[in-house]
Amino acid sequence: MIKITNISKTFSGNQVLNDISLEIEEGDVVALIGASGAGKSTFLRALNDLERPDSGQIEIDDLKIDYSTITKQEVLELRRKTGMVFQQFNLFERRTALENVMEGLIQVKKLSKAQAKEIAEAELDKVGLTDRKDYYPKFLSGGQKQRVGIARALAMQPKLLLLDEPTSALDPELVGEVQEVILNAAQNKQTMVLVSHEMDFVYNVATKVLFLEQGKIIEAGTPQEVFYSPKNPRTREFLSRHVKNLEVNN
Ligand SMILES: Nc1ncnc2c1ncn2[C@@H]1O[C@H](COP(=O)(O)OP(=O)(O)OP(=O)(O)O)[C@@H](O)[C@H]1O
Ligand SMILES: [Mg+2]
Repeated sequence: MIKITNISKTFSGNQVLNDISLEIEEGDVVALIGASGAGKSTFLRALNDLERPDSGQIEIDDLKIDYSTITKQEVLELRRKTGMVFQQFNLFERRTALENVMEGLIQVKKLSKAQAKEIAEAELDKVGLTDRKDYYPKFLSGGQKQRVGIARALAMQPKLLLLDEPTSALDPELVGEVQEVILNAAQNKQTMVLVSHEMDFVYNVATKVLFLEQGKIIEAGTPQEVFYSPKNPRTREFLSRHVKNLEVNN
């Protein structure tokens, strides 16, 4: 169980995250939706301290952290328990696909090269990239790069995987292969928080949907609840613009 409480963040007088609290069960896929500028990326980045919250706490298993007093050691522990997949892949360009996946296993988990290679090969196999493992990123398609990014994150066995619009930088024909890899991870009970604008995908993959507006969760529920019986008129308005053929039962 992961417990996130009272996360707030202000950028020069502009409150971007407003007292967000959330409980995540093991295996949950929490999808965060909302308009551009709502604070979705900031929230994800706040969770693993890429963007330090002004206040708030997180509990992941036995790790309990208060962001306002977080120590360097706690940052390291937090990063060990969370994996991140970025919109722009963020691969090491001078390392092959395999070396990209091995890197954290060697540097962070302190595994031997041989152990890291074995795990990295297995993870690349799961995302269908065995035949591309020795390629450098510039010789991979966007979809292949993102699958390396996901394999790299999953290799670390994170308690919580954070994905920020993992398919929005891809050509439309490459979106499906990456969504499939994420669906697979979800079926394997990987706990995650996913930011996505692809409402069909959110509907299919999420166990819980949160609608964020101006840094506040104004609606939360199962995909069925949020998509088909939203309580907040602003959620309904957002969905009517982003989902085709949405039948809203009032
Ligand atoms: N480092 C920063 N400094 C100042 N303001 C920032 C910073 N990062 C984000 N913001 C502001 O915080 C607000 C939320 O940004 P954020 O990137 O979290 O939105 P988002 O919901 O991810 O939007 P999008 O759907 O466009 O990705 C925006 O108003 C943005 O301009
Ligand atoms: Mg964003």
